[in-house]
Amino acid sequence: MDFPVKVAAPVSQTTACAIIPVFDGGPLPAVTRAFDKASGGLLTALRRSGDIKGDLGHVALLHKVKGTRAKSLLVVGCGPLKRYTRKALRAATLAATSKIAGTAADAINYLSLELPSDCDTAAGATVIVDAARHASYGFSELKSEKQPEIKLKRMGLAASKPEVTDTKRGASLGQAIANGVEIARDLGNRPANVCTPSHIGAVAKEIARQHTKLSTKVLTEKDIERLKMGSFLSVTQGATEPPRLIVMQYHGGKKGAQPIALCGKGVTFDTGGISIKPAPKMDEMKFDMCGAAGVIGTMAAIAEARIELNVVAVVPCCENMPSGTATRPGDVVTSMSGKTIEVLNTDAEGRLILCDALTYAQQEFDPICLLDVATLTGACVVALGQYYTGVFSNDDALRDELVEAGKRAIDGAWPMPADTEYGESLRSNFADFANIGQREGGASVAASFLHRFVDEGRDWAHLDIAGVAWRADANKGATGRPVGLLVDFLMSRVQ
Ligand code: BES
Ligand code: MN
Ligand code: ZN
Repeated sequence: MDFPVKVAAPVSQTTACAIIPVFDGGPLPAVTRAFDKASGGLLTALRRSGDIKGDLGHVALLHKVKGTRAKSLLVVGCGPLKRYTRKALRAATLAATSKIAGTAADAINYLSLELPSDCDTAAGATVIVDAARHASYGFSELKSEKQPEIKLKRMGLAASKPEVTDTKRGASLGQAIANGVEIARDLGNRPANVCTPSHIGAVAKEIARQHTKLSTKVLTEKDIERLKMGSFLSVTQGATEPPRLIVMQYHGGKKGAQPIALCGKGVTFDTGGISIKPAPKMDEMKFDMCGAAGVIGTMAAIAEARIELNVVAVVPCCENMPSGTATRPGDVVTSMSGKTIEVLNTDAEGRLILCDALTYAQQEFDPICLLDVATLTGACVVALGQYYTGVFSNDDALRDELVEAGKRAIDGAWPMPADTEYGESLRSNFADFANIGQREGGASVAASFLHRFVDEGRDWAHLDIAGVAWRADANKGATGRPVGLLVDFLMSRVQ
């Protein structure tokens, strides 16, 4: 979808659909008042009758309104003016776009003339573009019949003359983020028989081919063996599908400047292994590679936005399957770090592939800060639900930075404890420690396991996206989170 910037007077612009705001209570906003005046007070009347409402996300579609050159008006509720934030702007844009995406070929969005106080012109354009792209996303590549296509090809962003440059800049960042989010959603939505470790590797290679400052290498099982990633290998050993270790490097910053490293869990299907999962909803475990997808989508977005920073991604991908060659509960494996792990539950496999990725990222790149992203624990879903990513860190400032980035990006993250006490229950009689501990606080126990593979003095944060990476309701599918959060965080790290 394109987002041209529009500066002419609202009522005089030709479009299939003009999207205009209304608040819950108070007078009509200026741009809506202009349409009201042109229509001889129609909007005021409809608001009085209750057909137009200010409730956040309420939409009223009006056809053939007199006095305007728009074929239709879409009046969208933005909630009470007092509570109007960028989160409300996003919700209003999502609702408006969903309403017209299948019917209108083009639209002009006038919400950009009534931005909330917590976002400037550029940020407002970013929010609108990202939300409009999000609401018009479809995944139909595996349907035999062509789906009714999204008709909406263009959404103009209304701006006053002095704001044109900022609006354009914000819109193009929004496009980059939306492209990254779509990469993550497509990868997540593809089933495990399509989205294999090699498929993810091929997608990462293709993304790198499109950007000069981005390079990708895809390591095979032989390479992973040479690196002595015994923990990673113990997860893949029951599968026939070969594993991959994807390494992406983005050189946007100064030559030789320490990079930020991102590791993403890429379990393309998690059956649980010999500690097999129950059948209901097991299909959702195709989404267990959404950490990998989020990290790859983020690399694509920052390369497109050309941010001035060095960033590397280390993405271990494999299947977790039960078979005659699978790891047994009680097996002891040696990680790349040399630490030995007793695998008491083969379903706690995410931490087993990530610990070797963390070791590799540190040995190879000496990152200034190390993040990992994973659909790691059911316990995090219980704690935070589908709304917030759990953030665990050994550094309070880094944790707060990520929480703030989540707020700005409307891709929320909530601080969770990662104190070393949570790791006490990982003790093992047979190895350095076990891969599971107590159930209570299970998300923090998992974080403590990962923390043991982080070098002393290195800033590290773990994002548990088990609750947020996909929707499990009637609109089942990948959300593309936390690409927005990660891009915002990385941009805030550019001096
Ligand atoms: N991929 C799952 C975590 C998960 C579960 C994500 C449900 C989203 C929804 C992970 O590999 C897993 O199985 N974790 C176990 C760990 C336990 C055995 C300590 C869990 O959370 O039950
Ligand atoms: Mn598992
Ligand atoms: Zn898993």
